[in-house]
Amino acid sequence: MNILSLDSSESLPEIEETSKETIARAVAKRKNFAIISHPDAGKTTLTEQLLLYGGAIQQAGAVKARGEQRKVTSDWMELEKQRGISITSTVLQFEYNQKTINLLDTPGHQDFSEDTYRTLAAADNAVMLEDAAKGLEPQTRKLFEVCRMRRIPIFTFINKMDRPGQEPLALLDEIESELDLLTWAVNWPIGSGENFRGIIDRLSKEVILFTRTQRGKQSIEKKHKLNDPELFDLVEQDLLNKALEEIELLEEAGSSMDLDLIRGGELTPVFFGSAMTNFGVRSFLDNFLDMAQGPVARNSSNGPIDPMRDGFSGFVFKLQANMDPRHRDRIAFVRVCSGKFEKDMTVRHARTGKNIRLSRPQKIFGKDRSSVMDAFPGDVIGLNNPGMFSIGDTLYVGKHLEYEGIPCFSPEIFSWLRNPNPSAFKNFKKGVNQLREEGAVQILYDKDESKRDPILAAVGQLQLEVVQHRLENEYGVLTRLEPMGFQVARWVNAGWPALNEIGRVFNCKIVQDSWMRPVLLFKNEWNLNQLREDHPDLDLRNVAPVVSGVDPISL
Ligand code: G4P
Repeated sequence: MNILSLDSSESLPEIEETSKETIARAVAKRKNFAIISHPDAGKTTLTEQLLLYGGAIQQAGAVKARGEQRKVTSDWMELEKQRGISITSTVLQFEYNQKTINLLDTPGHQDFSEDTYRTLAAADNAVMLEDAAKGLEPQTRKLFEVCRMRRIPIFTFINKMDRPGQEPLALLDEIESELDLLTWAVNWPIGSGENFRGIIDRLSKEVILFTRTQRGKQSIEKKHKLNDPELFDLVEQDLLNKALEEIELLEEAGSSMDLDLIRGGELTPVFFGSAMTNFGVRSFLDNFLDMAQGPVARNSSNGPIDPMRDGFSGFVFKLQANMDPRHRDRIAFVRVCSGKFEKDMTVRHARTGKNIRLSRPQKIFGKDRSSVMDAFPGDVIGLNNPGMFSIGDTLYVGKHLEYEGIPCFSPEIFSWLRNPNPSAFKNFKKGVNQLREEGAVQILYDKDESKRDPILAAVGQLQLEVVQHRLENEYGVLTRLEPMGFQVARWVNAGWPALNEIGRVFNCKIVQDSWMRPVLLFKNEWNLNQLREDHPDLDLRNVAPVVSGVDPISL
């Protein structure tokens, strides 16, 4: 075992004074981000191009999360592959232009968006990827809400400009009006689809021309100054004029570029390009690195913790079991928030107060793993998890602190999980508890003790199927799912007393979560709104309030 649990009465070793300059240099070099998008918008393709720039992969197609694997139904083999996506897409670290970039990748399938929510908690920036033809799509909107809650800077890449798409002004307008987010186009497209000719970079006043190539080949980017007379020989005058007129319109009526607004998550820089042909990707990456924020202070029980705080601290944002089925291992992913992490260091586990020695930390890049000797704020390390880490746990050296936990998001699918074989109860219990700890699914319970079967609550159907599949394969328990027909869950913020005060509630089922807090389940939004009308003072939340320092109930 690579984690040594020490007695909490033993004091932690003195913090070794790592040179502040080393940490300051590492912090200044680091940028981290996650991509939010709807399936098929081109996340895998864009990721690959970014990794190619960083020299982290040698050829396109190396990131294993291609189309057909994502579009799975419920075939078990396919499910394995589906889990493969969640596994292989973890943290991709690469160097580019003397910066260390951590791309916190997320599963491609929308049923696993809870994973994405949690990953966003560890990200300092987000890239919102849109398909130019489709504009904002449901999954992007949902994930955007999470970015908004944390006010993280959002960079928008409008992809597939080589194909017919919506009018660029309409795409900006949609973001502004529907997401209530200001936009500033860093570049502007000349034509679109068949007539896509390139982009005008508003900062450098250059035109980057697009060369159409065979499918699968990359476009060659040719640059011209905006006042280069040769341009009119290369691009149709009407297309160029239209683009210039639109830019003029933006200068007059649009927002101004404002780094503070970007960093505050109120204004999104917008880039147009085509990931597949690698067009506009380098310009996006260069501008992103200039504008994105580095590792920022994070909220904790002691107020915001600066990355330059003396001593390492970080929190667990993701658990993954059986990444390598041959070893049945469990990995906890830790976002480093302050100080320098060093192999073999002894840290305190805030929830249990235990000291633990971290002797085999790993860096995980897709399927590959390597040992980590040190890590800095903004980085992610993988720790072997013999069951002691839960999502949201804080690890630290020095003065006690606990990072703000990671909230649970409102599930939309609910199902009783039945164990028809009483003799398998021990394994059933173990499996359910471990999968809940890992965050594979949320577990709710009936208020009535006699119906103690767990209720699985998930964002997507596939999530439930994966749980069932894993219970069978990893814990040897065959289970039965019984759908409950609810679609909406709300937490009662003020707890049981508030609920008892209003007396009987209609058209909803009252259950409790793993912290014994009341959760209301509704068949539809209409029933929820009815309750809201009847009891306007009842504070209902679609995100579960964070609980720190308290162990959840087990099955
Ligand atoms: P995802 O991870 O967001 O789900 O999307 P992914 O990158 O897999 O891209 C989805 C499809 O869109 C892929 O086509 C991909 O080639 C295509 N695509 C991505 N970027 C662009 C672009 O800039 N222009 C055009 N025209 N297409 C783009 P596919 O046919 O599903 O897969 P494949 O056979 O190309 O791998």
